[in-house]
Amino acid sequence: MILVTGGAGFIGANFVLDWLAQSDEPVLNLDKLTYAGNLENLASLEGDARHVFVQGDIGDAPLLERLLAQHQPRALINFAAESHVDRSIHGPEDFIQTNVVGTMRLLQSVRAYWQALTGAQRAEFRFLHVSTDEVYGSLSPTDPAFTENNKLEPNSPYSASKAASDHLVRAWLHTYGLPVLTTNCSNNYGPLHFPEKLIPLIIVNALAGKSLPVYGDGLQVRDWLYVKDHCSAIRRVLAAGRVGEIYNVGGWNEKPNIEIVKTICALLDELRPKGDGSSYQTQITYVQDRPGHDRRYAIDASKIERELGWKPAETFATGIRKTVQWYLDNQDWVTHVQSGAYRDWVQTNYAGR
Ligand code: NAD
Ligand code: DAU
Repeated sequence: MILVTGGAGFIGANFVLDWLAQSDEPVLNLDKLTYAGNLENLASLEGDARHVFVQGDIGDAPLLERLLAQHQPRALINFAAESHVDRSIHGPEDFIQTNVVGTMRLLQSVRAYWQALTGAQRAEFRFLHVSTDEVYGSLSPTDPAFTENNKLEPNSPYSASKAASDHLVRAWLHTYGLPVLTTNCSNNYGPLHFPEKLIPLIIVNALAGKSLPVYGDGLQVRDWLYVKDHCSAIRRVLAAGRVGEIYNVGGWNEKPNIEIVKTICALLDELRPKGDGSSYQTQITYVQDRPGHDRRYAIDASKIERELGWKPAETFATGIRKTVQWYLDNQDWVTHVQSGAYRDWVQTNYAGR
């Protein structure tokens, strides 16, 4: 089997669902179920013996030791993290605990397990670390896109904690020989995306008749990738990636935030027109910028295409339409995740802007 950490979150849950749709190899899913982890994301796997869910922390070494000994995974894919930049600005502590200390403990537990393996099991074992393009810092409008050779120049507490985790993973390869792989991916979007992040937040706020908060001038650029394409890239790297290598993953799809927001409004105008005939665009509100806001990210994904033959299947036009439709079709999911804790966060992040 494979061990997936953080498999109840946005990308992890999409990964587990896609994996089990394509393979009968079981998944052991270890997730702490923070505010971002949601078992409803995995409801379709209820009663499916191929999915074993354990609630727990990647930093819990005795738990890891027990799980590894009992289930003998052939690979681990580490999605578990605190992942929201704005939350890292309000409170960096959890980011250091999970993304840095947690990753270190996970590496230690896995190293002990891997060192005790023998023969083919040891040779074939892989630790795949899922990371982000934000570790490379911010680009000017004319800079070339990030390659795997860019320096790590993180600017937010979140990206600094992810960069630290990338360094730890590298060190566990060089010092202990642990067979690691790292992927650095651009902004994902798609089903099951928690509505604290731009795209789902804009969709749910628009439908609720609320303002659509655009930070600063809205001209910051992100490189958007449909989540199922990120999942297929990870499967490909796990199957054929060279040990110790980093693979950048991206959609070749740079867009300024304001264009993303207007595209969502246009889709909603078409799919769920407002009763008064006005456009959702009338709800757009420019608000105070994010401190230290990175201006532009862009991924050069040529290495993964050249070496592993991976390319995204969705264009932005097809992916964003599917995404908006998913939120329209899954209003119950949205209602359930907008718990008291979610409302507290919205108050913390937006009330003073
Ligand atoms: P998410 O916040 O939606 O999910 C994170 C999951 O990890 C949650 O289920 C949470 O309960 C779990 N978790 C948190 N701390 C844990 C701990 N200590 N032990 C066990 N589980 C824990 O995040 P996401 O957007 O799905 O991102 C997944 C990974 O992909 C992260 O490592 C993130 O840095 C990386 N990434 C995300 C994006 C993106 O656009 N969302 C892009 C590139 C890379
Ligand atoms: O680049 C990969 C990263 O993408 C991942 O590593 C992170 O886990 C993920 O959260 C995402 O980070 P961003 O900060 O780019 O994503 P977010 O959706 O928070 O914001 C996208 C852009 O939209 C960013 O420029 C900030 C802006 N924004 C965001 C919110 C929540 C707004 O203008 N208004 C908002 O309300």
